[in-house]
Amino acid sequence: MSDAVRPAGGDASWFVEGRLGMFIHWGLYALPARHEWIKNRERLTDADYLPYFQHFDPDLYDPRAWARAAREAGMTYFVVTTKHHEGFCLWDSAHTDYKVTNTPYGRDLLGPMVEAFRAEGLRVGFYHSLIDWHHPEFPIDRVHPQRDDAEARAAAAGRDMAAYREFLHAQVRELLTQFGQIDYLFFDFSYPGDDGKGHEDWDSEGLVRLVRELQPQVLINDRLDLLDTDWGWDVKTPEQFMVRDWVRVNGQRVLWETCQTFSGSWGYHRDESTWKSVGQLTRMLIDTVSKGGNLLLNVGPTARGEFDARALDRLQGMGEWMRRHGRSIYGCTQAPEGYTTPQDCRLTYNPETNRLYVHVFAWPIRHLHLDGLAGKVAYAQLLNDASEVKMVPPRPSHHEAVPEDVLTLELPVVQPDVTVPVIELYLR
Ligand code: GLC
Repeated sequence: MSDAVRPAGGDASWFVEGRLGMFIHWGLYALPARHEWIKNRERLTDADYLPYFQHFDPDLYDPRAWARAAREAGMTYFVVTTKHHEGFCLWDSAHTDYKVTNTPYGRDLLGPMVEAFRAEGLRVGFYHSLIDWHHPEFPIDRVHPQRDDAEARAAAAGRDMAAYREFLHAQVRELLTQFGQIDYLFFDFSYPGDDGKGHEDWDSEGLVRLVRELQPQVLINDRLDLLDTDWGWDVKTPEQFMVRDWVRVNGQRVLWETCQTFSGSWGYHRDESTWKSVGQLTRMLIDTVSKGGNLLLNVGPTARGEFDARALDRLQGMGEWMRRHGRSIYGCTQAPEGYTTPQDCRLTYNPETNRLYVHVFAWPIRHLHLDGLAGKVAYAQLLNDASEVKMVPPRPSHHEAVPEDVLTLELPVVQPDVTVPVIELYLR
């Protein structure tokens, strides 16, 4: 297996440095407030869905507040749904009437958001749905809201996928020519096979050519149904689960990012209660970076245009930890081969500074033993307060034999009052 990381077609420097991003799922589905796939799950027709279009008016929308919350949480890039599967556009697209400028809100949402996040120093990513359950030429298929409606399927039989494909490419061109530099494109998603849609339906190859022509630095995710090519994707995107090791394709390590929700829904879901704790979310971030990946954490704003209190609580909690521990995340990656991860810990490593970070998920009693590191560490400290952690020789005892190459750290009995304590090791 190769340990060289597969090169990306775009600029990945900010991505592997930044490690933590904000995903934003926002659209008409914020009004029903019970998951962004509501139209599919409840088999809603365009007529059923119309009231959400007619009442979309996020009067409290303040993208500067969103951008500040993301930066203060330690996020370094954001990815926003320009359009989700419902087909509703957050910008004033010339190619459809199904857009925010035709709702009571009446103004472009996307431009001010990009400006606000860029002003806070974050990189810009666009999620763009390949699917469009509102477009008149989008053929009904196995994931369409009217998939079980024989009459609707018969009435839609003449829909022209070529016309839809042209519309899809025209909107991607708008997104790459009207909002300045874009750093990341997150297309979603392909479902080839019977009654599905894949790279030929989208002309995914043409989309990649279009992106490379207009903004060659853009990173492209892995959902264009081009995984069997070496030019059709840059980033693997496992979602809603934690991988066991660095993601590989054909044995080669690749750029990867796991996208995850705070709760059980990407879009705002008023009554969904499975919200992860700040501790869980922080440990997810650490675990991800310890395996060389990025974490894209999702917020679903309300239809008034706000991050709800539950989301703000998590963002603030993560920001508190990142404020003191960010250097164990930013620019860090998996520890070099041969480093053994101590029990109940994760390791991250910064190759530039040659520092190893021990993230302690369960605080041990008095000692932490690091196999193979004896003599390799010049200094050790707790990252939260830069207080020294003493390195002590292994104590010979008739209870157990301690190998010569073990580095033993002497820890305070009381765990530092932070979400996840981190020990910073300055390697020789
Ligand atoms: C899942 C959800 C979709 C969401 C995507 C984000 O596919 O079904 O709604 O946009 O994850 O990766």
